[in-house]
Amino acid sequence: MTISMNPTKITLAAFAAALSFAASATAGELPPASTQTGVTYATDIKPMFDSSCIKCHSGDKAKAHLHLDTLAGALKGTKKGPVIKPGDSAGSLMVKAVAHVLPDDDSWMPPLKNKAGIKPLTPEQIGLLRAWIDQGAK
Ligand code: HEC
Repeated sequence: MTISMNPTKITLAAFAAALSFAASATAGELPPASTQTGVTYATDIKPMFDSSCIKCHSGDKAKAHLHLDTLAGALKGTKKGPVIKPGDSAGSLMVKAVAHVLPDDDSWMPPLKNKAGIKPLTPEQIGLLRAWIDQGAK
């Protein structure tokens, strides 16, 4: 058996790789996960949720019954189930909601028009959220 390394095949393989990369980048449109290691809820994520989310996601009237003021609440999710998949930030509903990749803009978080004037998360904040989830959401 010979291993063929003919240039046409190599070019096609590179082309296919480039295409699949482009496809996943478009399908995702997610800011890249931060390269920061050791990301935890207590140190990195709670401060972000405190300023951007808990006004609506804490207490008796938490929207969608989603409580983001505790790690347990964030992991539990909404009345419909979890919004975080530890180890899979790109597959996590929370990441899709904050990165505005869900088709229905009612699910974009924080809501675009909110009376509290809370602004969308920055790509850096979304990257940190992704790193936290990818690292197991501890
Ligand atoms: C001004 C109020 C408000 C703020 C601030 C807010 N949310 Fe929400 N959130 C809501 C409401 C209302 C819903 C229910 C939307 C629905 O059922 O379509 C919701 C639902 C969600 C859901 C479930 C979406 C779904 O489709 O099931 C997630 C996840 C979520 N919020 C995450 C966040 C995160 C993370 C933040 C902060 C970055 C945040 N929210 C900030 C009001 C808010």
